[in-house]
Amino acid sequence: MTPGPAPRICRAEPGAPSRPGVMGSGISDMGEATAPPRKRLFIRSWGCQMNVYDSGRMADVLAPLGYGPAAAPDAADMVILNTCHIREKASEKLFSELGRLRAVKREREATGGRMVLAVAGCVAQAEGAEITARAPWVDIVLGPQTYHRLPEMVARASRAAGAVVETDFPAESKFDHLPEAGAAAQGVSAFLTVQEGCDKFCSFCVVPYTRGAEYSRPAAAVLAEARRLVAQGAREIALLGQNVNAYHGDAPGGGTWGLGRLLRELAEIPGLARLRYTTSHPRDVDDALVEAHRDLPQLMPFLHLPVQSGSDRVLGAMNRGHTAADFLRVVERLRAARPDLALSSDFIVGHPGERAADFDATLALVREVGFAQAYSFKYSPRPGTPAASAPHAVPEADKDARLQALQALLRDQQEQFNRSLVGRTIPVLLTGAGRHHGQVAGRSPWLNPVHLSAPGALIGQVVPVAVLAAHTNSLSGTLAAGAAMADSSQRREEPAPA
Ligand code: 5AD
Ligand code: SF4
Repeated sequence: MTPGPAPRICRAEPGAPSRPGVMGSGISDMGEATAPPRKRLFIRSWGCQMNVYDSGRMADVLAPLGYGPAAAPDAADMVILNTCHIREKASEKLFSELGRLRAVKREREATGGRMVLAVAGCVAQAEGAEITARAPWVDIVLGPQTYHRLPEMVARASRAAGAVVETDFPAESKFDHLPEAGAAAQGVSAFLTVQEGCDKFCSFCVVPYTRGAEYSRPAAAVLAEARRLVAQGAREIALLGQNVNAYHGDAPGGGTWGLGRLLRELAEIPGLARLRYTTSHPRDVDDALVEAHRDLPQLMPFLHLPVQSGSDRVLGAMNRGHTAADFLRVVERLRAARPDLALSSDFIVGHPGERAADFDATLALVREVGFAQAYSFKYSPRPGTPAASAPHAVPEADKDARLQALQALLRDQQEQFNRSLVGRTIPVLLTGAGRHHGQVAGRSPWLNPVHLSAPGALIGQVVPVAVLAAHTNSLSGTLAAGAAMADSSQRREEPAPA
């Protein structure tokens, strides 16, 4: 599974909801420093929502050192490239960015200034040695489990001649050593990492190698962070984990809680209107989780549940640990519990050994389920994974043709889903200003971006919106009469349109 949303949520999601200013850009929403920032920090984040969350936490860790946000890398005293390794071209992108930054760094040094350049994330974890060899101007290379050591690394980098490299999996958890989330807190819709790593070892996936073994944060720490996020204005929290529904954190009174129980406790937090989680694995959907979907109006009726393929042969080769029928049964249980649930998924075409008949089985599964949205990828070998050395590679032309056919079907389903919302009044969480004056942007329960005219004072509220038009990736509508609307008012009254 995954990620991603995002995803694990290790999913580079095209068009995924992102925190403005962090994902793929600077860190304009980094944590508040206690003193005015004296140094400027720019973080570029690729890939999944967990990387976006991590970028926020790195900003938190560096804020006490006087780092505030920079608008662009050229204006920064420190640049962090937070990388994603899930699919191909990750290292090419990184090295081309590093080449550009080398020139900026040189110019800075020519005028007596300094720029600290760090590479973080999964490419750093997987290719640390190659980065220091090919780009010796990089000062710090750090894997995803060592962010809490950043201040020490920055200090060491200012003394060291070569790069400071930290890509081990330290015995202490970074979560115990990071300051309270600040940067990640800002905004109506917040991310909260509850679980990291993966023990499932799907044939194609680097995550178990780059993010390490599965780890769940204790429930008390998660609840405390959620309460802080809500106190800082969050109305929606998306729980993140590479394998988020494998969550089994220490419970406050001893024992452990699964994700279903954790969601129940989170739903008790006053002011928290919406809960989501991503990314989950079909094997870890237990009864408690299904019951949480049934009972909690705060838990949004949208689930990203990667299946990857509809062929049992390929699912076996992928080491997914479930069949297509298992997946369909999980979907059935979830839809019985929450009839308005809409589904999203991830698919890979062209895994080694995939034949035309296997691909047809994938199309059949897509037709049977009906997805509101999905991500599909051509298989790309990731060094060190079992599939990378498997026989029967699929020719590139076949992969291309399959991807096109699958994406056409998924696009049709997505458009059909969006069209089915036109004419309905749906609860929309207003998350920020829109693109045009007088417009605000929000999210439907099914994660569609929604644009409408409304007073900015309503941002942060769930309001009823009459949907007027559907576009491929968003909806537009108008504020419907009446006061703020609880998400629960739409529950189970209308089945999911997908
Ligand atoms: N090739 C293509 N897609 C991949 N994914 C993960 N690894 C690979 C790979 N080697 C996709 C899966 C996963 C999503 C985050 O990325 O579909 O769920
Ligand atoms: Fe998801 Fe499988 Fe990768 Fe684990 S190994 S993160 S379950 S795709």
